Formats: sequence, structure tokens, C-alpha cells
Amino acid sequence: MDTKILRNISYGVYLVSSNSEGVDAGCVINTLTQVTSEGPLVSISLNKENYTSEIIKKSHKFIVAIINEKINPNIISTFGFTSSKDTDKFKEFNYDVVNNIKVLNEGVCGYLVCEVENIVDASTHDIIIARVVDTKKYNDEKEMTYRYYHELIKGKAPKKAPTYEKEEEPKQTGKYKYVCDLCGYILETDEELPDDFTCPLCGADRSHFTKVE
Ligand SMILES: Cc1cc2nc3c(=O)[nH]c(=O)nc-3n(C[C@H](O)[C@H](O)[C@H](O)COP(=O)(O)O)c2cc1C
Repeated sequence: MDTKILRNISYGVYLVSSNSEGVDAGCVINTLTQVTSEGPLVSISLNKENYTSEIIKKSHKFIVAIINEKINPNIISTFGFTSSKDTDKFKEFNYDVVNNIKVLNEGVCGYLVCEVENIVDASTHDIIIARVVDTKKYNDEKEMTYRYYHELIKGKAPKKAPTYEKEEEPKQTGKYKYVCDLCGYILETDEELPDDFTCPLCGADRSHFTKVE
């Protein structure tokens, strides 16, 4: 079967967050769908190994913020390529706290406050169906699509995203070796990294690259 057609499925880009007993978690997702206007109900698909999934299963509540095109790409790198298990992802960004859950108030159009109704086992992922109990709109910026993320931010899907595709890593050699401290991407090059360099895997800026011996 040729799975290339799956790349033509369109999505948005979102940030889901939750809190259970004082522990925060949050990650980037592309799998928010409105299921029905009765409720209204939405669904998200979360990898079982994501810490955010663990926290939502305990708290039964989450907030989904709708990412806009003005977002600082470092937010996507942090929330999409590191784990809340060992990183305080909100630390460097601006956020509000709603029902004990942190939600970004920069780079997003607004958010939906959700209460879990049902969880469906779907292999590597859980499909979480939830009722939207409150909403807030911050601005009229354009919401980010998954295509925009790939083409303009030049980000990829990490291993735990449902749309992940295994790619052959090109063989690299070079005088200098740099590592991205967010997603772990290693770059070998004969040139020093320019100031406007961004990570080809997660989109993090030059400040996240460290030279290794
Ligand atoms: C553009 C993009 C889309 C993603 N979509 C999903 C998704 O729909 N579901 C999911 O479980 N992970 C998705 N991920 C991966 C998670 O954001 C990533 O595994 C994150 O590090 C999990 O963090 P956590 O351990 O704090 O929950 C996506 C990542 C990116 C960058």
C-alpha cells in the first residue's frame, strides 16, 4: 500500500495542556477535531507514551490552545520535542492559568476548556473525546495549518506524532559538530553556524545549538 496519500490529509496545529495534583504537562498536537456541535464535543489523539496523556488520564480535563502563524517557533520546538516529565515547558513563555491549567497567551488565537467524556484505545495512541465547557478568544490572527508548519516553519513530525514518517538520515561529515539541545538533532558541517540558522528537525533557533568536540 502506498501511504503517501496520507500526507494530503489536512490538520491544524494546537497546544494541549493539563494539570494533575500540581503537576503541569503540555504538548503540541495536530489531531484536534470537532466531533459534534451537540456538547460541543471534540477529540484529540495522544501517544500513550506522552506525559501529557498520563496527566490528562489522571485529571480528566485539558485545555487546547489554537496556535497562530505569529507563534515563536521555539514554543513549538519546546512543546513538541521535549517531555514535560523532565522539562518545565511554560517557564520561558507567557501564560494564563485557567482552572489550575497553564495555557499560553502568546502565539495562540484562543483556547477551549475541555472535560474528558471517553477514551478510545487506538494502538499507539488514545483518542480522547471531550466536552468543551468554556472558550476564550485572544485575537484574530490566522490559525496555523499543518502545511504552514512544514513549509514555513520547516518543522517535521517527531516520533510520537501520529503523522510521523521514518526518513533515511543523510550521511554527514564535517569539521564541526553541533547538537540541538531541544530535539537532539546533530549537524556536522565545515562552516560555523550562521546566526539565522534554524534546526531542520524542530525549527529551534541558533541559540539552541551547542558545538561539541
Ligand atoms: C507539529 C507536531 C504535531 C504533533 N502532533 C501530535 C499529536 O497529534 N499527538 C501526539 O501524541 N503527539 C504529537 N506530537 C508530539 C508531541 O508533541 C511530543 O511527543 C511531545 O514531546 C510530548 O510531550 P510530553 O511528554 O510533555 O507530553 C506532535 C509534535 C509536533 C511538533
